[in-house]
Amino acid sequence: MQIRKAVFPVAGLGTRFLPATKASAKEILPVVDKPLVQYAVKEAIAAGAEEMVFITSHTKNSIMDHFDRDYELESVLEADGKQELLTAVKDVLPDGINCVYIRQAEQKGLGHAIRCALPAVGDQDFTVILADDLIANGFQPVTAQMHRVYQGYGTSVVAVQRVPESETHKYGIVQAREIEPGVSEIEKIVEKPDPSEAPSNLAVVGRYILSPRIFRLLDKTGFGAGGEIQLTDAIHTLMSEQTVLAYEFEGVRYDCGSKLGYLQANVEMGLHHPEIGDEFRNYLKDFASNLD
Ligand code: G1P
Repeated sequence: MQIRKAVFPVAGLGTRFLPATKASAKEILPVVDKPLVQYAVKEAIAAGAEEMVFITSHTKNSIMDHFDRDYELESVLEADGKQELLTAVKDVLPDGINCVYIRQAEQKGLGHAIRCALPAVGDQDFTVILADDLIANGFQPVTAQMHRVYQGYGTSVVAVQRVPESETHKYGIVQAREIEPGVSEIEKIVEKPDPSEAPSNLAVVGRYILSPRIFRLLDKTGFGAGGEIQLTDAIHTLMSEQTVLAYEFEGVRYDCGSKLGYLQANVEMGLHHPEIGDEFRNYLKDFASNLD
């Protein structure tokens, strides 16, 4: 039961980063030296996916360009003997990995975006990665961790983590019954509840492994929280037919849909960068010692 297809909903407007995202996709914003969406694709490939399905919009051509070969650039780097850069450019999309782009003509929410993936995914289980949620590896990339759980139970899996109780209105929140350390069966899932109504503080993070049954359920899902068609609501219906698991992953998540989370990701990933990590650490120490 290997999952071959990964879906990346990347059609959102990225208004929180305007004006930076006026003419280019928010998923192309770099964390140190790689665009957010490249981390997401790398994570899918590390878990064994071979087909990348992007749900995109007319303002997101830069994503298509990024995952295309650039023969002119490659031959210039080759002629200049810049082997490392050439490898970095070629590694953006390794051989054997295929990209499919589907336009989401109207922005009707995450559930609607996922429904758009049906023609490319068909009748097989698939993974969903929200590139905004950048997750630095624990013992292995989070999608690969989830595949391990999926392989054990053969059912849908949603990544979760604890959040402060005051922040439940930003997430899908689950109530779940633990069946082994880190793995629980979801009993209830609700999109962005007010802290006074949240069933717990266990929040959905942007990683899912889903049964294709979700497409039919999304067809019947009306507008929910925020006036959008919510994936969370379709998962709630799926739970009445199949077990859906919550998996508390290992790794650090950065909310790169917010300015603060994006800056934190840059600082922390910068500190671990092989080329500039040490120099950056020294700079930060020096800088921090002068802060009031
Ligand atoms: C989406 C989902 C939400 C989930 C969140 C994780 O919300 O609808 O359930 O908790 O991603 O990042 P969004 O952040 O797109 O509003």
